[in-house]
Formats: sequence, structure tokens, C-alpha cells
Amino acid sequence: MLFELFSSGLAWTVLAIVGVGYYWTTNQRSIFPIVNDYPGDFFRRKAYREYRKNAKKLIADGLAKHCGPITIMVPGGTKVVLPSALSDWVKTNRDLDHQELIREEYFARYPGFEAQSTLHSSDRMLIDLLRSKLSQNAAILPTVNQHIAPALQHHWGDSELWQTINWDDDTTGIISQAAASVFVGPEKAADAEWQTVVQAYVREYFAAVGDLHTWRAPLRPIMHWFLPHSSACRDLIRRARLIMDGVIQKRKQEAHEAEMQDSEAPIYHDVVAWTMQVPGNKHPAGDVQLALAMAALFTTTELFKQILIDIATHPELVEPLRRNIRDSLSTHGLGLAALANMELLDSVMKESQRQVPPTVGLERKVIRDTSLPDGTRLPRGTHIMVDSSDMWSPKVHENPDVYDGYRFFKRRQAGNKASQFVQSSQEHNVFGGGRHICPGRFFASDELKLRLAHILLKYDLRLKGGSCSRPVQFGVFVGANPMTQLEVRRRAEPEVCIF
Ligand code: HEM
Repeated sequence: MLFELFSSGLAWTVLAIVGVGYYWTTNQRSIFPIVNDYPGDFFRRKAYREYRKNAKKLIADGLAKHCGPITIMVPGGTKVVLPSALSDWVKTNRDLDHQELIREEYFARYPGFEAQSTLHSSDRMLIDLLRSKLSQNAAILPTVNQHIAPALQHHWGDSELWQTINWDDDTTGIISQAAASVFVGPEKAADAEWQTVVQAYVREYFAAVGDLHTWRAPLRPIMHWFLPHSSACRDLIRRARLIMDGVIQKRKQEAHEAEMQDSEAPIYHDVVAWTMQVPGNKHPAGDVQLALAMAALFTTTELFKQILIDIATHPELVEPLRRNIRDSLSTHGLGLAALANMELLDSVMKESQRQVPPTVGLERKVIRDTSLPDGTRLPRGTHIMVDSSDMWSPKVHENPDVYDGYRFFKRRQAGNKASQFVQSSQEHNVFGGGRHICPGRFFASDELKLRLAHILLKYDLRLKGGSCSRPVQFGVFVGANPMTQLEVRRRAEPEVCIF
């Protein structure tokens, strides 16, 4: 039977078409030299393995060797990596789009993944809201601040003996609870069920995306119905919608009753309230909340973890940081001015960000045929990203391998405005740039400073057994070490503290 099948011309024709189709989809778009193309690696196993393990080296060696853009094969396609000198060209080119790339790569149109389609919706409802209401809004600081102490008390307690924290749960919980105070508001910020739903959704969503990338593109629209993490997303989004519908009903009821009694309805400073005021908003409140958690939770927690590691590894920074925080709060009181004045803390945060630098930034999809400044044509559909190696280059930083908490503080004192945490530049593009620059970076900065102020004034930190905790690399992503063992203890001496 098999013999007959393989001896038929039809079978060989079909195999040839599949082979050519496969080769075409993986190689056709390589306008620039491919850095992980190996002889005989027909199914790209070695290419993807090398990408996962050695993306940073592949990109650095490739850019150096070819002195211009390169192509790297990643599971599910190819990406063009441009040298950092082309950052400004990427930031200003209207033929490139970030949102379309994210919608495509993160499967925004699948059921259960609506948080992604809400975050990157073409109506930009949430992005506009973050820019206009969340950024540099002094009214939300007291609310965030009030939620930090209970979150720390819940996760770290007040024992004066050293204890090892639950690395992932505690850091995520501390970030999530305080951020929820301005995302979801007072009704649900500290609610255990809501916190479980939100944190589980973020975990399940990224796991589902990872799962789907292991399948060939034509199979994904079918497979997502059966993969467990995708099913979990569908279930969690249903639960989030239900919970949030209850919150919306309650607030409408309050407004109605206030109107009836000719009294003032309660005023809320949170995303729920702001979205209720958006005319014609079509995004369910549950989707909006999960979208926010997805954008804010993982990114901020990863950085929070790395800052804790760096402060624990550099105890000489602790007293100067405490002084900087105390002085800022006593001069300005709790507010934006005090946070802006925490310049050493700002520098430490940015230097920690430099320890976990993404290998590339400014990911974009070419939405109309376009040309590089040298005239090379980039066809519609090409995925591009920009090399981030300036962040660890000796041409940009003195002793780039050394952690220097004062690095950006010194630059700022010397008049370099781009050295502030929230600033993005060609040399430090962690928040992206141009019209897609992260709209949550001011909020991330403020909430991190507030949390770290509480932590530094109230706790001592150290790594268990003086261990070392190096960042881990996966493809082009770098993260804080997931095996870190951080110990904390409540400080014995009373701290004059305005919190
Ligand atoms: C340390 C924390 C964070 C990091 C490192 C980070 C990083 C980024 C990056 C690299 C981009 C893409 C920008 C580009 O390619 O030009 C981005 C976009 C975005 N971020 Fe953040 N982010 C952080 C925190 C947040 C927070 C707290 C929020 C929400 C409150 C947020 C909301 C968004 C949104 C909505 C976009 C999409 C913007 C667009 O497509 O136009 N981010 N972020």
C-alpha cells in the first residue's frame, strides 16, 4: 500500500508542493542575510534552538559581520533586525505599525484573547485614556499609596526576623494590588477572587501565546480551541466580565440614587470611572481590566524584581536611597514633586532596567511598502525590530558590565535629560518610541517609586546566603532570575515616615 502510494506521481507532486511551500514561507522574505540558517536544517530545529539560546550573540555577530540589517528566523516567521542608528527612522515612519504587529503575533482575534484586541484596538480608546488620565495624575497617588502598606503587610508581614519571600507570588501580588486600586477601583482592588482572575489571566494568556507559536500558522485557528491555556483564557475572560458587570451596575445604581435624592454621587479616580465616561465605548469593562493587567503587570513586576535584586546586591546604596526618599517627602509631601525629586531612586531603577535589556526594541510591521534611507525596499508584511545593544555598549557606557546605581544620576546632574527613567532614547529604548511609545511609563515610574519608598523605609533586603542572581535570556527577551531567593525583615528602628 505504502509502496503504491510512494510510487505514484501524484504523491510525489503533493510532497514537492508542500516542500516548496514550506521553503517559500520560511525563506522568501529574507531580504537581508539570515544569521541562523544552517545547512541541512530543513525543519529549522537548529535555527529555533539557536534563536532561543543565543539570540543576543547571533544578532550582535550578524550586525557586526554584515554592517547593516540582518534577518533572524524565529518560531513562526522571520524578523529583520535594523542597527540602532535607524531608530529615528523607525519612530517616525508612518508605513510602520506596532499595533498591527502585536494583534497578529499575539492572536488578538481569538476568543478569550479579547484583552489584547482591546489593548491594541484601532479606536485607541484605552491608549488615549492612559495618556490623558493616568499619566502624571496627582489625584491617583494617595489611592495607590494607601494600597501599598496593606499589600506589603499581607505578603511580607512585620517579622523582624529574616524570611525568604515567595519570589513570584509576592512580587506579582504587591504590584498587582496597588495598581488595581486605580485600574479597578476600591470595590475589587483587594478582592481575593478578582486578584486571582487577573493574575491567572496574564499567566494563562502568555502561556497560550507561547503554545500557539509552537504550531504552524495554518493549524493555529483550529488548535486554540483545544489547547488548555487558550481554554483557560476563555473561561477567565467570562469570569472577569461577570465580576466587572457587577461593579458597573453598582456604580450606575449609586449615580441613579444620588440623582433621585438630589445629592452628590461618589467620585472615583480609576479606569472604571474614566471608561464609563467615554462616549460610545464598545469594550466590556472586564476586557479593559484584563488588557491593563496584561500591559502593566508582567512588565512592571519583572523590573520590580530586578530592582529588588540590585538593591539587595548593593547594600551601599540603601542609606543614600533612604535619605533621598526622606528628603523628598519631607520637602514636598506625598505628590508628583516628591517623586520627581527622588533622582537617585530614578537612576537606580533605570540602571536595573539596563541589567535586563531586551535584545531588540521598536518592533513594527510594515503596513505599506517602504524604503530604508539607503533605498532598500521593505515589502508590506515585513516584521522589523531595532538592535538595543547601545544599552550595554562600552561606546555608550563606561564599564557597562558594572552595576552603577549613580550612573544615570550623574548623567542627569551633567544636564543629560534623556537619563530620566521615563525618557526613551536610541541608547535606552526600553519604553519604545514615536507614536507607540509606552503610555504607561509615567504610571510605572510613579508606582514603582512609591512601592520602593515603602520598602526601603520599612524593610531590610538581602539575597539568601549572599547568592548571586543573574538575569535569564530566552530568545530576544531577558528577565529577572526566576530562581532568586530574596530575604526580607521588618526594620527594628522606628522610621519617621509619612506613609
Ligand atoms: C516597566 C514597565 C513597562 C515597560 C518596560 C513597558 C514597555 C513597553 C514597550 C516597549 C511598548 C512598545 C512601545 C514601542 O514599540 O514603541 C509598550 C507599549 C504599551 N504599554 Fe508599556 N511598558 C511598561 C508598563 C506599562 C504600564 C504600567 C502600562 C499601563 C498602565 C502600559 C501600557 C502600554 C500600552 C497600552 C502600550 C501600547 C502602545 C501603542 O501600541 O501605541 N505599559 N510598553
